[in-house]
Amino acid sequence: MTPSSAPIPLIDVKAQYAPLIPKIKAVVDEVLEGGQFVFGPNVAAFEEEAAAYLRVGQTVSVGNGTDAIVLVLNALEIGAGDEVVCPAFTFYATAEAIARVGATPVFADIDPRTLNLDAESVATRITPRTKAIMPVHLFGRPAPLEDLSQLGLPLVEDAAQAFGSPDIARVGVASTFSFYPTKNLFALGDGGLVALNDEELAERIRMLRFHGSKEKRTFEYIGTNSRLDEIQAAILRVFLRELDEWTSRRREAARRYEELGLGEACEIPEDQPGHVYHLFVCRSPHRDEIRAALTAAHIGNAQYYLPPLHLQPALRYLGYREGDLPETERAARENFSVPLWAGITLEQQERVVETVQATLGVRA
Ligand SMILES: Cc1ncc(COP(=O)(O)O)c(C=O)c1O
Repeated sequence: MTPSSAPIPLIDVKAQYAPLIPKIKAVVDEVLEGGQFVFGPNVAAFEEEAAAYLRVGQTVSVGNGTDAIVLVLNALEIGAGDEVVCPAFTFYATAEAIARVGATPVFADIDPRTLNLDAESVATRITPRTKAIMPVHLFGRPAPLEDLSQLGLPLVEDAAQAFGSPDIARVGVASTFSFYPTKNLFALGDGGLVALNDEELAERIRMLRFHGSKEKRTFEYIGTNSRLDEIQAAILRVFLRELDEWTSRRREAARRYEELGLGEACEIPEDQPGHVYHLFVCRSPHRDEIRAALTAAHIGNAQYYLPPLHLQPALRYLGYREGDLPETERAARENFSVPLWAGITLEQQERVVETVQATLGVRA
């Protein structure tokens, strides 16, 4: 196959970690030699290194990003009868975690320019039962934390898509991360993290992740079992050292899409300080034609959150209808992502742009 017709994936995770395989093998070997697979030295070291990187006092590693949210809400004693305001334009886990602890997810609309929560819409959803606001740093773009913090409620930041952004984990009571393999900082399996400054809250989350116990004999809370394992922690330590380089390559690729003129054929994301481009998500009323052209050219593409969360079958009991969140619904109809990862080449990006631009001539 010639390079000009080779498939271009949406995200090439292997291209990012392939140069590091010798290092990965070496650290996995060390874990095998050590024989300790949970709560070992790599987990402790990764928690410390992640705290230093994020400039927070405490981190607690857990099994995945969903558990990270659930455990923060548990530790804050948010549950039945409480409400948490969040976006409906996000991955399902955001609202699922709120419902999982027995609380009610209350959906606010988004700002169409950023696709993040709109603080004005959030303000209209607050009731005496609201216990927290959960902004999502969607697609790697920091949510408007300063505006949201004016609303006087604790912020729990769902930062699953935004590790590496310097603007996050500063304002909220806690921030949660996922290390799912496509994320900016990723494991070669599942993993998650809570970052925070409140020592007491961190201690409670540490206990909750292991059956509500400190020392495995006395059990003080109803918790769960959700741990980052030693092999993943060892790999994450290798990847954390690469993250700033990966982030700058993502930002460079985003800039290149703009320079190549992708914005002439569709709406491209406006840059913002701290945006780490987890995904490069564009918009067009001609989304379906553009996606069909990309697929025909063997170029990876995707659309997100259709139906948006307020219209998902599992959340029907909340009583939302189509039309309740106009900007969310429009974004769900119009968005599509094009390939981006740390290492995408200029030639690959040129092919993406040419393919999207070619749809201009045939649009109805
Ligand atoms: C916004 C958001 N929140 C939560 C999660 C859940 O993370 P995980 O898949 O690690 O449970 C994800 C990731 O998939 C996500 O994108």
